[in-house]
Amino acid sequence: MPEVPTWKDHFPISWVDDHFVTRREFTKSLVWVSVATFVANGIVALLSQHKQRQRAQVLPRVAIAGREEIPVGGSKVFHYPSSDDPCLLVRLEPERYVAFGQKCTHLGCPVHFRAAERQIYCPCHEGWFNAEDGRVLAGPPSRPLPRIALETQGEQVWAIGQT
Ligand code: FES
Repeated sequence: MPEVPTWKDHFPISWVDDHFVTRREFTKSLVWVSVATFVANGIVALLSQHKQRQRAQVLPRVAIAGREEIPVGGSKVFHYPSSDDPCLLVRLEPERYVAFGQKCTHLGCPVHFRAAERQIYCPCHEGWFNAEDGRVLAGPPSRPLPRIALETQGEQVWAIGQT
């Protein structure tokens, strides 16, 4: 006579009962899964915000260009916060500078400022970004360019953090 497996003693549930789930139980489990997903998303969002704040606080303040170093409509590549992070400084108006990370958010090609279009261009796959705020205008990138916070003081333009 075949021996009865021991797990059947520990879990004495028949297959018929095991497959029977009431609508109420199913709805309850859906509600719990939804609540758990909502809470998990909230925690991830809070952690990400906290990380961004921490990063912004520890970034150095670096002089990246002389105030008159680049003409209006011109641009300059600099590195911030480390020498591995190329960035693009653009002088949109006499007193208006903007800066972004220079790595395209699609596959990392270097982007360039196109003064005629007043936009930032990635030649790899025809990606276009708005030079005012770095948002995607066209092409495959799905995320905006990371923005560098600037400050003009005296005759210098300073990078002071990432936003
Ligand atoms: S790497 Fe810039 S569009 Fe693909």
